[in-house]
Amino acid sequence: MSPEELGQVQAEALGRVKGAAGAADLLGIERDYLEKGGVVAKILASIPSLAPEQRRELGSGANRLKQAIQKAIEEREGELAAEELERERKAQGFDPTLPSAQPRRGSLHPVTQVTRELEDIFASMGYAILDGPEVELDYYNFEALNIPKDHPAREMYDTFWCDRNNHLLLRTHTSPVQIRALERFDPPFRAIVPGRCFRNETVDASHEHTFHQMEGLVVGKGITVGHLIGTMKTFLREMFQRDLEVRLRPGYFPFVEPGFELDVRCPFCEGGCSVCKRTTWIELCPCGMVHPFVLRYGGVDPEQYTGFAFGLGLSRLVMLRFQIDDIRHLMGGDLRFLEQFGC
Ligand code: DAH
Repeated sequence: MSPEELGQVQAEALGRVKGAAGAADLLGIERDYLEKGGVVAKILASIPSLAPEQRRELGSGANRLKQAIQKAIEEREGELAAEELERERKAQGFDPTLPSAQPRRGSLHPVTQVTRELEDIFASMGYAILDGPEVELDYYNFEALNIPKDHPAREMYDTFWCDRNNHLLLRTHTSPVQIRALERFDPPFRAIVPGRCFRNETVDASHEHTFHQMEGLVVGKGITVGHLIGTMKTFLREMFQRDLEVRLRPGYFPFVEPGFELDVRCPFCEGGCSVCKRTTWIELCPCGMVHPFVLRYGGVDPEQYTGFAFGLGLSRLVMLRFQIDDIRHLMGGDLRFLEQFGC
């Protein structure tokens, strides 16, 4: 068979492929040309009877023919499938140019957002991030924090008790994790404890039965109030991206001595606004030097080590940050509220 004849066979085959109206036509072409007993097979079978110099030429020509037909069939299959899809779309009235329905995106709760931000700041200062149980023992929540059974400080903490014997409770603050940390880690160490707390109190715009705190605890040799102030200033600089003045007032908590209330110069105004109640100071957190009794309860020798602790009101910080005026929004679970904090 001459090259011209091969060319003719190919033209004829490709012509049939082009005109194929469906899968059945393509199968027929495959059978006629490519399968056993088909045109290509016959050409190959004729090779041994040829003169040696013609063998190679016809052999490679036949192979090219086979590949050309295979490729054409595949392409036509693709075209036919696309046409079929198009017909189906038309039949269904489907318009692929319309924009798709947007999926509803979730977002992080504002408390989670601020918690993560604080965790990043304190982690960058070398703090470990700890967790503790929300159902806590009286021992950790009160006793070991130097608040024995009949101590008047217990009245500050309206407690949800979990059993008749008043051993188990929903923790009223994150401070019990101070004791758990002291028991577990050898000083020096520094840690923060973000977490949920619970108090059985009348709910209003600034009191909620479920709220968030972030405890901080640093224990080591020679830790002083200076370290406490420096730490809080650094944290505030990171949070508000500028230096803010702080001041300490005396405060009382049985687990610190001395105890303080730490105020920060209002970052939202110059001369007084509604956030700082026109005082230019905002109460940031109670704090102090860890009471020697507390260190001892945690198994740490107060003769060797000192430490400071602070209890940031995380819920309050979130409210400050996003200018939320009612704490009940935070745990209320209303999607209309939460959807505003997408990020
Ligand atoms: N746990 C206290 C509360 O919820 C707050 C607190 C005060 C925490 C002083 C501290 C601290 O770590 O040093 O009322």
